[in-house]
Amino acid sequence: MRETIAGVILARLGALREEFGVVVTPEMIELPHPPDVSMGDYALNLPMRLAKLARKAPMLLAGRIAELLSAESAWFAEVQAAAPGYVNLTLSESAIARLLQVRAGDADLGLRKAGAPQTVVVDYSGVNIAKQMHVGHLRSTIIGDSIARVLEARGETVIRQNHLGDWGLPIAMVLWQAQPLLRRLEAQEQDPAGELSLAKLEELYRAATAAAKDDPAVSAAIHDILVQLQQGDAQLLADWATITRLSMGEVYRLYALLGVSLREQDERGESFYRDQLAQTVQALRACGVLVESQGAQCVFLEQFKGKDGQPLPVIVQKSDGGFNYETFDLAAVRFRIDTLQADRLIYVTDARQALHFQQIFAVVAACGWTNKGEGQVALDHVTFGSVMGEDNKPLKTRSGENVKLADLLAEAIERAYAEVTQKNPALPEEQKRQVARAVGIGAVKYADLAIDRNRDYVFAWERMLALNGNTAPYFQYAHARICSIFRKGGIAEETVSGPLAITHQAERALAMQLLEFPSVIAEVEETLRPHTLCTFLYEVASAFSSFYDACPVLIAESEALKASRLFLCRMTRRTLARGLDLLGIEAPSEM
Ligand code: ARG
Repeated sequence: MRETIAGVILARLGALREEFGVVVTPEMIELPHPPDVSMGDYALNLPMRLAKLARKAPMLLAGRIAELLSAESAWFAEVQAAAPGYVNLTLSESAIARLLQVRAGDADLGLRKAGAPQTVVVDYSGVNIAKQMHVGHLRSTIIGDSIARVLEARGETVIRQNHLGDWGLPIAMVLWQAQPLLRRLEAQEQDPAGELSLAKLEELYRAATAAAKDDPAVSAAIHDILVQLQQGDAQLLADWATITRLSMGEVYRLYALLGVSLREQDERGESFYRDQLAQTVQALRACGVLVESQGAQCVFLEQFKGKDGQPLPVIVQKSDGGFNYETFDLAAVRFRIDTLQADRLIYVTDARQALHFQQIFAVVAACGWTNKGEGQVALDHVTFGSVMGEDNKPLKTRSGENVKLADLLAEAIERAYAEVTQKNPALPEEQKRQVARAVGIGAVKYADLAIDRNRDYVFAWERMLALNGNTAPYFQYAHARICSIFRKGGIAEETVSGPLAITHQAERALAMQLLEFPSVIAEVEETLRPHTLCTFLYEVASAFSSFYDACPVLIAESEALKASRLFLCRMTRRTLARGLDLLGIEAPSEM
């Protein structure tokens, strides 16, 4: 909508060129809200900007711009120059109605951006094989998935990448410990008793860790297995594949439960880059940044110094010839830029990896790998804080272990089921279960997304499942309530098309709020902060609530008014459902 209004303004201001010698460009037109609603809908700061260029008093320009825009009476009900150099604009009701009508006719609700799509790689989740997912993986998975959805809604070409930790020591530990079991199962040619489970893998992993700790010979044997695997031993590779698929089977079960859109084709784990590591180091050598230090291949960069002021190396090949986490990521950058043709790379991991990514980005920039034609490939590290327990310490079970994601989600659904049963006992059992799933999972995801991602957040069941406040159940409930208005009125929502007639302040406020949706989504694309969308949805739900309290819908005074209000209901419902969808949260039609 802001683009449309900016277009109207731009078209009117051609005269300034002759009068003041200044040319207005689209980027100059910003439309922030004024500090006070009584000052109109937008406070145009253009006069201030132009005053500098024209070397004229801001109020002189403000006066002239106000005069020119006053002619647009179909768009602006009020245009006022305001000190020290603004023009305050109030949209006309007919303009709001027209804008909402256009929005209604667009299946994408105006979210698609103008211009050519970018190819964006979103690297998220990045689970580690042979370990169960715990709450620490939750955030990357949820935040990353929401960012991917938002970029897609904007029309970008999104390539999801699940950078699995599948080529390091943990897998070697399991491989070592699992040998007898694997050989026995192989002799049987199958696993009828289901002996090889993820729980079993975890057990094996734990046993190997303990054994290696006490016995250097075991530790050496495990290291040996890792080297043999990495050198391509056929038997170990086959075992590795078995364990990887077993592990990922459980991960996909959780993704499905969470409504996360990662699929097998998005998997490009560390193992994928195994044949590109030597080349990557070679390429670093070719661009002249490689230095040998104590037998290791390193890159030293000005901006990274240790506590003692000594330069901090980025090690890309260890003295034993092995590669590390850095090498995998450097190879991945090259693959993503050269082969996937990415214009932007986004990495979603917790803030503890900040230095790692700063270093990777700096090495890549030093080698010019991000140069692309005229421009640069953009690199973003999307960081986030920790999940805390109600005691304000990192979330743990009572016995002090990491909370398993599977248990956490099961509890969320169970709690939601109890709520739903209490709230709506008449709902058929099957539907109750569906709603409980949507509400329980939605609550967990929303709590994760709703506050600025860099802050830690406290995992508190009561708060995240509350039907009032900034929670998923609150929106889901608002959504279901709108659906019930249509049900009660016996009206098919698709038949409702307005027109909008504004008779009450609450109607205007709701319509204006709905119109903001595309600007909010554009902002999330830029800042990669999904909580902005959460705040917006909360404002929509609140504006709807005020509207619904003040304006009867099914028993409105006239048919025209009823049609207008149903139209607002419909647009609110669509906006809530689409917004929740961009957060990866379901919106049931009944609760
Ligand atoms: N597997 C890693 C971990 O658990 C996360 C991978 C993140 N992505 C990346 N390209 N480094 O910490």
